[in-house]
Amino acid sequence: MLFKQQALLRQKLFILGSLAIGSVLYLVARVGTLDRLQPICPIESRLPPAEPEQIPLRTLQFKRGLLHELRKGNATKEQIRLHHLVQQLPRAIIIGVRKGGTRALLEMLNLHPAVVKASQEIHFFDNDQNYARGIDWYREKMPFSFPHQITIEKSPAYFITEEVPERIFKMNSSIKLLIIVREPTTRAVSDYTQVLEGKERKNKTYHKFEKLALDSNTCEVNTKYKAVRTSIYTKHLERWLKYFPVEQFHIVDGDRLIMDPLPELQLVERFLNLPSRISQYNLYFNATRGFYCLRFNIVFNKCLAGSKGRTHPEVDPSVVTKLQNFFHPFNQKFYQITGRTFKWP
Ligand code: A3P
Repeated sequence: MLFKQQALLRQKLFILGSLAIGSVLYLVARVGTLDRLQPICPIESRLPPAEPEQIPLRTLQFKRGLLHELRKGNATKEQIRLHHLVQQLPRAIIIGVRKGGTRALLEMLNLHPAVVKASQEIHFFDNDQNYARGIDWYREKMPFSFPHQITIEKSPAYFITEEVPERIFKMNSSIKLLIIVREPTTRAVSDYTQVLEGKERKNKTYHKFEKLALDSNTCEVNTKYKAVRTSIYTKHLERWLKYFPVEQFHIVDGDRLIMDPLPELQLVERFLNLPSRISQYNLYFNATRGFYCLRFNIVFNKCLAGSKGRTHPEVDPSVVTKLQNFFHPFNQKFYQITGRTFKWP
């Protein structure tokens, strides 16, 4: 009998202990969010909206936390009105390049309290059907934000699609344009790897990279192959320069974003006239993943999906050299135009 009572007592103590530990863990987990929800500047709604250069950062931090909370709870129309939330057209667009690291760049910029990302690729300017739906359709695809935050979207197809520069110019001729590039041959192989994976998923066969990248008749580089054409960065950029001055573009080094993201992000912050806010705290190297991952606060961190960072197939070294020689003059021109030089072969 005594033994049974002791066992019952032990069981109760165990449950109580678990509850206490659970509560402590929950409180610790909520600290970041709760901290953000403290009204830092109560008179703020009476002030006129600040210019991006003068954003009160602590206020933004608070608002961002609030935005996150509202989004999680599917903000009602009343909440949207009360908090002056708006759907804004992007003030900056990551226009490409496909497989350059466009997703990583968008997610990392989204660490900044003044930046709000459009999570999906909208494909408004490159898809005729979407474009025909009009600018209000595009705006409705944008996330809710506070008026002095900036919205950024990314659709890498914009960079290579003929009609896009003129269409974006018509929307906003002073928009800021971000292009993230990687060493062109590596980018082409990454592009191939993505398509290959799609084919394999559908149980379809696909040619080897070498066969696609070289013209079988001449044995020269096959410029009809899309993965090759996309890597001729200067050709595409020249089309954009018919509409926008070079100062409106910022080139991001996608290879450095993989190895050491912070300096690249700080350059982007400067280009967007944002105060430097992303820090080493927000980025940590995940050895299992083999990439930098994102830390928003003590609780919330994330790595990019497994579809980013695929293993590339081995490519015949002679084909790699051929491609590198082919891209070389285009790269030189690209450096000359953009003023950003890379150590590409
Ligand atoms: P690979 O899959 O060839 O490694 P995009 O988002 O434009 O499709 O680019 C995908 C590329 O982003 C990946 O190419 C990967 O190398 C790169 N990348 C850069 N930073 C990354 C990160 N932190 N996590 C995962 N992938 C990252």
